[in-house]
Amino acid sequence: MLWIKALHIIFVVSWFAALFYLPRIFVNLAMLPADSTVERERLLLMARKLYRFGHPLMGLTVLFGGILWLYYGIGGGWLHAKLALAIGLIGYYYYCGRLLREFAGGRNARSHVWYRIFNEIPVLALFAIVILVVVKPF
Ligand code: HEM
Repeated sequence: MLWIKALHIIFVVSWFAALFYLPRIFVNLAMLPADSTVERERLLLMARKLYRFGHPLMGLTVLFGGILWLYYGIGGGWLHAKLALAIGLIGYYYYCGRLLREFAGGRNARSHVWYRIFNEIPVLALFAIVILVVVKPF
């Protein structure tokens, strides 16, 4: 069970690298002057690769978390709250995919300030999830 938990945490950390950095790239894209095409293409390429690479990391986070929950039977009220936040994070990740398509199509209408606030959501979720799973307050 400890090997599965270790793998779960490894993929959680790896997935969070994408969750933290992808919106940061959006902040930079939203700040670019319209004529910075070379820089824009470079940032878009980075974002596409990161978004693609984040999918197996997200999948393996859920797979090993699901084994801990459903195979080893670890659970409780804390896990229900954690699952709601984890599902929220998965939705957040796919929304990043939609925003990436908007940037690629030149349709972004949001400011870099909006993306800076958007970038804080995974931080808050990380605090809440780790407290739920380690402290198990309910
Ligand atoms: C749907 C997705 C997920 C499921 C089903 C799940 C399930 C679980 C379960 C059952 C445990 C074992 C808890 C224990 O042994 O006390 C666990 C451990 C853990 N999970 Fe998840 N998890 C999921 C997603 C996440 C996410 C998104 C994070 C991000 C922070 C996370 C962070 C952790 C950590 C840090 C531990 C180790 C806690 C400890 O050893 O005390 N999990 N997870």
